[in-house]
Amino acid sequence: MDRAAILLLDWYDSHARDLPWRVKGSAKADPYRVWLSEVMLQQTTTSAVAPYFAKFVDKWPNVNALAQAREEDILAAWAGLGYYSRARNLVKCARQVAEMGGFPDTEEELRQLPGLGDYTAAAIAAIAFGKRAVVVDANVERVVARLFAVEEPLPASRKLIRAQADAITPQERAGDFAQAMMDLGATICTARDARCLLCPVQELCQGRASGDPLRLPRKAAKKAKPRRSGTAFWIEKDQHVWLVTRPGKGMLGGMRALPDDGWSARADGDGEVPLPGAWKAGGVVRHSFTHFDLELGVAVYAGDSAHDLFEGEWWPLDRLEDAGLPTLFAKAAQLVLARS
Ligand code: ADE
Repeated sequence: MDRAAILLLDWYDSHARDLPWRVKGSAKADPYRVWLSEVMLQQTTTSAVAPYFAKFVDKWPNVNALAQAREEDILAAWAGLGYYSRARNLVKCARQVAEMGGFPDTEEELRQLPGLGDYTAAAIAAIAFGKRAVVVDANVERVVARLFAVEEPLPASRKLIRAQADAITPQERAGDFAQAMMDLGATICTARDARCLLCPVQELCQGRASGDPLRLPRKAAKKAKPRRSGTAFWIEKDQHVWLVTRPGKGMLGGMRALPDDGWSARADGDGEVPLPGAWKAGGVVRHSFTHFDLELGVAVYAGDSAHDLFEGEWWPLDRLEDAGLPTLFAKAAQLVLARS
């Protein structure tokens, strides 16, 4: 076994983070819990995921239970975690796996399932099934770039980083090895800090030897995100607010939401506000999506028939948390309610 792998596995045995989806020692991991946690952890931190993971396994303790759940209940339970296509794929994947009688155990078959890319398929194969797989997420990229002093900037260096990760991945305990790399990246070899004196592979690290590990990984300059603007409509009557369900395809698809002027389908400019003169300014919410930043004005209706403009439902204000609003609209609602 490569020396880096020996040192990392030793370190993991005494320093692994205690995370709710992990099992200790020789206990077998449950593929359902590994899959669910890894999908939730795509682009999301462990601290944000933990309460959602607990809620999901409590409501739906296995893949058959999740497969039988209504999609709208799953989307509502996902609300706040972001990247909602993950939730729609989660439902599809659960149904497919239930039909197949369980999760497949190879990286290739796992990659065919909805919502599973290279990273997630490798992570499940290694962590849940003990297969040797090369698991590379952003934490692993950073650790490898420093360990081998990869000077080429991301994303061009992805291939090289993957090859270096492959070279040190052991035949045995590939799942523990992957999680050791992730833990190292999350706690010691972080984006902001390189706490080399605590690192189990400090003696092997070429980034450390260079004297300035923090400069790695280098990154190609990013383009600034485009900005979009739009308006959401707050229509309230008798302690209820008018909510719509967004179309299944497209941004925040299938989620409950405030009605709006169609900002999500528009590259720039402002949409039309119906019933001019019937609205009061309710403030502005800013939210960053993957491909653009949004400035969403909230227009508060001052008359009493605007809800007819949108297909939707009256939702009681005292149960608004149960509506499963995505964070953008939850922020807008908080803004209006805090002012009233
Ligand atoms: N990030 C994504 N998957 C993880 C895991 N299994 N352990 C720690 N951090 C992770």
